[in-house]
Amino acid sequence: MTAINRRRALTGSAAIAVGVPVLAACGSDDGSTATDPTESSSPSPSDASPSEPSSDGTQTPGAGAALASASAVPVGGCFVNADAKVVVTQPTEGDFKAFSAVCTHQGCLVESSSEGDIPCPCHGSRFSLEDGSPVNGPATAALAAVEITVDGDSITEA
Ligand code: FES
Repeated sequence: MTAINRRRALTGSAAIAVGVPVLAACGSDDGSTATDPTESSSPSPSDASPSEPSSDGTQTPGAGAALASASAVPVGGCFVNADAKVVVTQPTEGDFKAFSAVCTHQGCLVESSSEGDIPCPCHGSRFSLEDGSPVNGPATAALAAVEITVDGDSITEA
């Protein structure tokens, strides 16, 4: 009699133990799926910020990083370095500028272009080659400027 009660007790606890991990697994799957879009959009603005406060020329993680060769940037267009999340523009021949490539609307990376502005593929925003300001919405804020150094054909982050 006692042995039967122990078996029933063990069987009952085993069933509970099996049921709990299944529920936990379902919960974690839902949680990670919901977290991914948040994680991909959150780092984008913070990735753009650390490379900017290097105005005194001191060594920062982004300083000196190669962004593009000058020949890769079309006159009247832009070249996106996706790894650095920086877009380099050449509004007029020999005049180079750079901005964060993270769209100020919802954080997509803008695209390389030779069509006179900086396009975002996600919702159609377009930004000025001169100053990164929005020339077409839905974005309403300018792309953050990035200081660069042009040395011959090499464009690096200042
Ligand atoms: Fe660029 Fe929406 S994220 S237009």
